[in-house]
Amino acid sequence: MVVAGDGIAPHEAWWRDAVVYEIYVRSFADGDGDGTGDLAGVRSRLDYLSDLGVDALWFTPWYLSPLADGGYDVQDYRVIDPAFGDLVEAEVLIAEAAERGIRTIVDIVPNHVSSEHPWFRAALADPSAPERALFWFRPGRGENGDLPPTEWTSSFGGPAWTRTTDPDGSPGQWYLHLFAPEQPDLDWSNPAVRHEHADVLRFWFDRGVAGIRVDSAAFPAKDPALPVTIDADAHPHLDRDEVHEIYREWRTIADEYSLPRMLVGEVWLADDERFVRYLRDDEMHGAFNFEFMVTPWDADALRSAIQRTLAAHESISASPTWALGNHDVTRAATRYGRADSSFSFDAKRFGTETDAALGLRRARAAALLAAALPGSLYIYQGDELGLPEVEDLPLHALRDPMHERSGGVDPGRDGCRIPLPWTASDPASGFGGDPWLPQPDGWSELAVDRQLADPLSTLALYRSLLRIRRDEAALHDAPLEWMPSDAHTIAFRRGDLLCLTNFGSESVALPLHHRLLISSAPLDGERLPGDCAAWLRL
Ligand code: NOJ
Repeated sequence: MVVAGDGIAPHEAWWRDAVVYEIYVRSFADGDGDGTGDLAGVRSRLDYLSDLGVDALWFTPWYLSPLADGGYDVQDYRVIDPAFGDLVEAEVLIAEAAERGIRTIVDIVPNHVSSEHPWFRAALADPSAPERALFWFRPGRGENGDLPPTEWTSSFGGPAWTRTTDPDGSPGQWYLHLFAPEQPDLDWSNPAVRHEHADVLRFWFDRGVAGIRVDSAAFPAKDPALPVTIDADAHPHLDRDEVHEIYREWRTIADEYSLPRMLVGEVWLADDERFVRYLRDDEMHGAFNFEFMVTPWDADALRSAIQRTLAAHESISASPTWALGNHDVTRAATRYGRADSSFSFDAKRFGTETDAALGLRRARAAALLAAALPGSLYIYQGDELGLPEVEDLPLHALRDPMHERSGGVDPGRDGCRIPLPWTASDPASGFGGDPWLPQPDGWSELAVDRQLADPLSTLALYRSLLRIRRDEAALHDAPLEWMPSDAHTIAFRRGDLLCLTNFGSESVALPLHHRLLISSAPLDGERLPGDCAAWLRL
C-alpha cells in the first residue's frame, strides 16, 4: 500500500493556490490499445504532466461503472473499472504521481449510485427489501399510481422519477433520480448511507489520495415531504441546510490524517452567500467557480465576476478556484469564438457559429488571466492544447445521456470529451487504439509532439505560464490590486507583477517601464493587441 504523502513535502494549505489538472480517464491516453483511455495511459504520461507544471490531478470517477453517465454512475467505489485497470494499478499511479510531487484527487458522487449498485439491485429485486430505504421509493399519484410522486424534472431532461416493475410483473413504486434513470438518488437521512460514504472516503485517503472532488454537492439532501411542485423560493432538492452536515462529517474525516486531505465541491449556485456556506471552516476547502467559467468574453462582465468571487471568498477567508472548462462544458476555445460566449446548459445547441481562430486567441488570453488570479487553478485536459469543442460528431457516435434525454435538442457533452491527440504521425493521433469517440479530421495537427516543437503553440504557452506562476512569489502571496484601465481592459497587480487583458479589437498601450514576462500572442511593438493578455514586471 502507498504511504500517504510519499514524496510530497508537507504544506498544509497546498490547495489554496494549487494548479489542478482534470483527467477524464476514458479520453486521456489509452495504454492497452482498446480505444478507451486507462490508468496505464495516464502512467505513461506522468512526465508530460510533471513537465506541464501541475500540482495535482483530479480523476473523474474511475470506479466500476456501467458508464451510463461517463462513470458518474458508480457501481462499486472499491473497484477500479476493468476498462481502466485495477486497484493495484491505481495505487501505483498515486505513488508514481507523488514521486513527481503531484497529488491525486478522486471524485465522489454522494447524490446517487448506479442502478447496478448492489444496494439498488437488492431494492429492485424485492419491494419489501430494507435497501429500499436507502433510496427514494414512493407510490405514484393518481388512481393507479401511474403519475410520478412529484412533478420534478431531471437535470438531464424528462421526469425525475421512473416506475419500477415488481417481480411478479405488476407496476410497482417509483424511484427518484435527479439525473439519469440509471442514477438513483440516495436518501441521506439514512445513517447507512452516511456510514458507507465515510468508509469510502477513508478507503481512498488510506491509499494516499490527497483530496476529494464532491460531485453535485448541493443535491444530496431532500425535503422528506417531497412536495409535488417546486415553489419559486423553495428548494426541496437543492442546497438544503441538511447537506452541510454531510460535509462537516467529511471534513472531520479529512482532518484525521497527519497530512490533512482536502475537499473541493461542485456547487452550481448563483447566490454567493449560500455558495460560501460550503466553504466554512469546518466544511470544504474549495468549490468550483462556475460564475467565472460561464461569463462571456467581456471586460466588464468578467471583472465583476472576479470581484464578486473575491469578495465572497474573502468574507470567510476561503480561497477561490478558477477554471475555464471541464468535462461538462463547451471547450473555451470554441465558446469564446461565439457571438454570445457565455455558457449555459440551456443554450448549448447544435449549430451556433464560432470563429475558431478568435476563440483560441481568447482562450489563450483567458488562461493568462485566470492563472494570475489569487486562488487555485483547474485545467481541463486538452485545454492546454487549445482543443476546440467537436461539434459535428455523427449522431450514432454520441454517448452522453444528456443528448438522448433532451430528445436530441442538446448535443450533450461528448464534444469536449474527445480522446487527446499525442503524436501527429501515429494512428488515432497517438491516443492508443481506435478511440471510443471519433477524433475529427485535423486533430493530429493539435498533437502534443507537434506543439512541443512549436514555441508559439498553446502547449508552450501553458508550460511557460505555469512555470512563471510557480516561481513568482507574488502570484502566491500578494493580494490583487485593481489598476485603472480603459473600458475594454482588465488590469490588476499582484505585487510588482501586472496582468493586463485586452478584450477589445484595438491594441492598447503598455506602461512605459516594464519587463514582459509572457503574453498570450506576440505584442504589437509596445502595445498589447486585441484579445490578448500579458504579465509584466513593473
Ligand atoms: C456533475 C458531473 O460533472 C457530471 O458529469 C455528471 O453528469 C453529473 N454531476 C451527475 O453525476
